[in-house]
Formats: sequence, structure tokens, C-alpha cells
Amino acid sequence: MGRKSVADLRSQRWFDAPSIRSFNVRTRALQMGYSRRDFEKKPVIAIINTWSDFAQCHSHFRQRAEDVKRGVWQAGGLPMELPALSLSETMVKPTAMLYRNFLAMEVEELIWSHPVDGVVLMGGCDKTTPGLVMGAASAGLPAIFVPAGPMLTGRYRGRQLGSGSDNWKFWDERRAGTISEQQWHDMEASLARSPGHCMTMGTASTMTSTVEALGLTLPGAASIPAADSGHPRMASDCGRRIVEMVWDDLRPSQIVTRASFLNAVTVLMALGGSTNAVIHLIAMAGRFGIPLTLADFDAISRTTPVLANLRPSGQFLMEDFYYAGGLRALMRQLSPHLDLSCPTVGGMTLGEAIADAEVFDPAVIRSLDDPISKEGGIAVLTGSLAPRGAVIKQTAASPSLLRHRGRAVVFDDRDDLARRIDSPDLDVDETNVLVLKNAGAVGAPGLPEWGALPVPKKLLEKGVRDMVRISDSRMSGTSFGTCVLHVSPEAARGGPLALVRDGDLIELDTPERRLDLLVDAAELDRRRAAWTPPKPFFERGYGRLYTQHVTSADQGCDFDFLAPGAPTPEPKIY
Ligand code: FES
Repeated sequence: MGRKSVADLRSQRWFDAPSIRSFNVRTRALQMGYSRRDFEKKPVIAIINTWSDFAQCHSHFRQRAEDVKRGVWQAGGLPMELPALSLSETMVKPTAMLYRNFLAMEVEELIWSHPVDGVVLMGGCDKTTPGLVMGAASAGLPAIFVPAGPMLTGRYRGRQLGSGSDNWKFWDERRAGTISEQQWHDMEASLARSPGHCMTMGTASTMTSTVEALGLTLPGAASIPAADSGHPRMASDCGRRIVEMVWDDLRPSQIVTRASFLNAVTVLMALGGSTNAVIHLIAMAGRFGIPLTLADFDAISRTTPVLANLRPSGQFLMEDFYYAGGLRALMRQLSPHLDLSCPTVGGMTLGEAIADAEVFDPAVIRSLDDPISKEGGIAVLTGSLAPRGAVIKQTAASPSLLRHRGRAVVFDDRDDLARRIDSPDLDVDETNVLVLKNAGAVGAPGLPEWGALPVPKKLLEKGVRDMVRISDSRMSGTSFGTCVLHVSPEAARGGPLALVRDGDLIELDTPERRLDLLVDAAELDRRRAAWTPPKPFFERGYGRLYTQHVTSADQGCDFDFLAPGAPTPEPKIY
């Protein structure tokens, strides 16, 4: 790749053309207090910041953007901050997933419509990471990702708490009546102790780690806690690096290949990472025009051991992981399973980026000889109930339930579930299989995290803490339980899940990767003939666009019209 000259910079079309438009652009830059030497002959770096007052995991991003700017100025660029949809996983309803594609579209259009030569992407709370990468992939300009970093470990009465993980466990205990109101409130104040994303190996930690494995962060960036002084240092390093990447014209499409996506999937499995990553990685690969299928995930899962002893699959939290050597150390352990020749935004190969990494605590980062589990955390199932696939996080499930045959107890939608799950009249025991329909991308809509269906209260009181649960929904990456997720095709699109009735026999066989509805074909044909799709939830607006164009979970739930095609023409400037 050749070195760019000033005349090659995209931003020069805005700033330095012999036209009244460029005069206007310069006038407005001067209006903001910039002098000509601030912007003349300099690459313009957009800092796409998903900060907002609602984005609790990004509450340090105002300062972090300043840290990035410091690096950009030092390297001779002009940093310009562009705010984008903040997508707090906790605050945004009905689910941040509904808006992942919105963020991706916003990022692409922000980059395309502004005088920008390179991009720094600031994200970390679950959907922000894939949304930012998808948008930047489609825009195609040089880009580097600044992960938000995990928050500090939660602490409560001498024990460690994991955000998004222990809250669900304690909620079950609260419903079972084993903890008091006071303990519940004390816990509330102990769980999230600092800025940063969830510090379990949930979706946020999984996605920032897989983006590092893809080569889109500086080495080691994803593991640095948000509150550590190394985090602002990493941010300013990113500012310096992106300027170099612009001069070198180093674009995401030159970093990311099918081999780097297979590396990312391998890392996902070795981390015992979130099932949500399956959907996001397929969507991200789609933006690069790289084929990535559920079969790839299952094949890699079968041969990749889980090395990270992190909750919810294991014992420790992200702060422990960082002190144990972080993702670089884990990838070094995993080297025989990775393609080390893949490039990274740092300018070195993945192999060079991890060459000197060390494990400082083998209890947290295990070796290939002493894994947490011989297989990866996620298994892909197919069968008559999921012809296009479903996933289960086997390392967060009860081993005794991974092979299970039971009668279905069916809930038609989330409202039906909320109405009846804790009813003393619900006809259910621990051998049953709980089924939730119409909780997918179109049915819910937005593919919310409803897949860890609550265990019925009357069973909780008997001491039951897990059952087989099946849905076309997702589950929080921090949750646990024997939950079959992303059943495709989803019920609202007429998948076999729509046809399940109370009392039907369902068989889950995780080792054989099967999920079957044991009802004869003639009966299913009768039910299919009588089935009608649910009424559309949204009559107008973004929700309508979403339900009309979202692809299914096995295809990544991107919009069909955002697949790569002819390059978007550069904006005309007259
Ligand atoms: Fe932001 Fe969990 S709520 S990562």
C-alpha cells in the first residue's frame, strides 16, 4: 500500500477545493475557533463517540474522547468528535438490539457525509461494538476501535459480584424468598462500581475481545479496565495510530479476512463467550462480504477448548483476567488454533502482537492441557424444531440437562409468559421444557434477551434452579441455564416453533447437536395449514423498516439492503 499525499486526502475535497463551498467550509471551521494551521494539510479524524447521559457503561467517554484527540493532535491530524446513538443495554427498550442496525446505518452515513479521512470508533456496551464495526466496514475508511473496557469487580459482603450475572441469580433467590429486601437493596449499590461495560464474559467483553482478535484494536486494548490509567493511554495511542493508518491508507477491508473471522470465532469459543456474538459476528462478516455460517461456529467449537475461567461459564471476572495477562495471553495459549499471519491495525501481525504475552495466573487463563472444557462454549443445534439452526451455551448449562426429552409447556409470547409463569395453576414440573414463541427479530420484535425464561416460582420454591428452555429469542451473555436460543426460522416467520403445543414431546441432544419436535408430520401439516402470522407490531417508522428488512438470526439480523454492493458514490460538493 502506498503512502498518501495531502492531495489524496478525502477531506481536502471539502477544505481545499477552488470553490465557494470550500470557502464556506473554511469559514465555518474558523467560526469554531480553529485557525488555518489547525486544519490545513491535515487528515481529519472522526471520533465516533457513543457517549450519552444514559450510557452508563460509557460514562468515561467524554474524557476518553479528549484522550484520543490528544493523540490525533500529536500525530498531526485534526480530531473531530461525532456523537452517535449511545445504545445503553440497560436503558434502551424494548431492546438495544432493535437499534443495532440503526447505529450501524448512522455510523456509515456520518462517516460518508462528513469531511473525514479516518475513524476512531468508541464503544463497548453490548450492541455498540457490532453497530460501530458494521457501519465502519460499510464506509470503508481507515478505522480503529477503542473498547470501553470492563468495569471494576463488584463487591458485596466479602464476595465478588458479576454484573448482569449475579443480579439474575439473586433475583431467583429473591423470588424464592431466600434473601431479604434489605439485602436486595444493598446488592443494588455494590454491583457496578465504576465506568465501563459489564465485567463478566458477557456480550460486551465477548464483542470487544473478538474485535481485538479480528485485528481492529491495538494489542491488548479490550482487556484494560475502564478505570485503569492504562485506558486513557491506550486511547491516545489509538489517536496517534489512526493518523498513520490514514497516510498508509490502511482500511478495515485490508485487515479483516475470513481467516481473521475464524480467529474471532475461535477466541469466542475459548473465552466461553456470549451466544449473542454468533449473530453479531455473522452480521459483521456480512458487511465485509465474508461468508460466515453457523456451521463454522460449530466446527470451531468442537475443536476449541475453553481456556478463560470467567463467569458465567467459569469463576473469575474481567479485572482478574486483565491481571492474569488479558486477551493477548489467552491468544498466545491458543496459538496453535489461530492464524497468526493475520494483520492488525497496529501494523503488526496477530502473531507479533501476542509474541511476548504471558499468563500470570493459570487459574484464570488455563493452558491447552488443562482447559475448563474440552469443547467451546457454544454448540449449534439443528433438527425438526430448528431447521436453520439454534444455539446453546453448553458451558453455562446444567450438564444433566444437555440431553433431555420432555413435554412442552408453551407460552405464545412474552405477555403470556409474564401472565402465567408464576401462577400456582401452571401445570409444570422440572422435567418439562419451557417454550417461548414470537420472541425473535420479527415476532418480539427486535430479538430481545428473553431467552432465559424464568423458572416458575413454584419450582424455584422446591429448589429447582434450571430447566430446558427454548425460544427464538436471545439471552444475555451474562446469563446461565439450559437455554436453547435463536431458533430459526423464528415462530413469527412460520418456523416449526410456531406449531408447538402444550404436551408435545421435545428432544434436546446437545452432544449430537439435535433439537427435535417429536410430533408426526401429518399433524404438523394440519397445524401449519391453520397457522396465521401475528399482526405487525409497528405500523410506521423505524420499527416498520426493521421488521420488513431484518434477516433471520442465522443470517445475523442485519438489514437485507445493507449487504455489500456497488460502492456508495462520494458526496457531490458543488
Ligand atoms: Fe452495558 Fe452490560 S449494560 S455492557
